[in-house]
Amino acid sequence: MNVLEAKQLTKIYGDVESENATKALAGVDFKVEEGEFVAIMGPSGSGKSTLVSILSGITEPTTGSVVIKGKRIDQMNRFDMALFRRRSLGFVFQEFNLLDSLTIKENIILPMVLDKKDGSAMDQKAAEVMKLFEIDHIGDKYPYEISGGQQQRAAVCRSLVNDPVMVFADEPTGNLDSKSANAVMNCFKKMNDEKNTTILMVTHDVFAASFCKKVIFIKDGKICLEVASNGTRKEFFHRILDCQAVVGGENNDL
Ligand SMILES: Nc1ncnc2c1ncn2[C@@H]1O[C@H](COP(=O)(O)OP(=O)(O)OP(=O)(O)O)[C@@H](O)[C@H]1O
Ligand SMILES: [Mg+2]
Repeated sequence: MNVLEAKQLTKIYGDVESENATKALAGVDFKVEEGEFVAIMGPSGSGKSTLVSILSGITEPTTGSVVIKGKRIDQMNRFDMALFRRRSLGFVFQEFNLLDSLTIKENIILPMVLDKKDGSAMDQKAAEVMKLFEIDHIGDKYPYEISGGQQQRAAVCRSLVNDPVMVFADEPTGNLDSKSANAVMNCFKKMNDEKNTTILMVTHDVFAASFCKKVIFIKDGKICLEVASNGTRKEFFHRILDCQAVVGGENNDL
């Protein structure tokens, strides 16, 4: 079953008529099935973040449609969209986006607090996800008291507390060293394996992408290649590297 289906997405930043207009997406059709774990890769400026922010209702497309669980999110008003995002979607960003004035546990339950959920239900849910991702011992600490990897695992917990239909992540390992990146990617894999959470992630990092089940390459605002994992992570890692060489990865960009 498709959780998400987008058709003929285009995005032009700036005045369409003007010479300065940037065509960030040039006609993208995109489907995500329930339980998928997909990475989007491609050179810098190819439209990855634009695509994810349109698919998750943060940015409006210039043309095209996005349906999540049967709802046309591109046609929702801002209020309904904000509510839908908070109740039904999970987000993990490169910068962690935790609030420094709240403890880790308070940060994690924030989406539930905003939804006025029952206190013991919040405690139970927070305890469950923190245990799953092995940060239950630091629930009372503040973000500035823990490592970047721990902060990102807390952000992963926060993305899960509302039992989202789908989690979106843009460069979730971009600010992490390789050991922390490994721990965070294991969390994503665990949430996909054990909770069947559908995940869509943007990454530059072949190592991070190798945890996924499928990688979609985008170039000049269009999907140009797709590879699926069918063996070990190591084997997939090498296949993604080969594809990146064909598509033109980061290094070709420098
Ligand atoms: N808010 C904006 N206003 C104008 N142009 C933008 C805006 N956001 C992105 N662009 C342009 O749209 C194109 C696609 O940008 P996008 O951020 O989606 O790329 P990306 O693939 O995520 O790149 P990166 O790997 O560097 O994060 C680029 O040419 C970019 O300069
Ligand atoms: Mg980006």
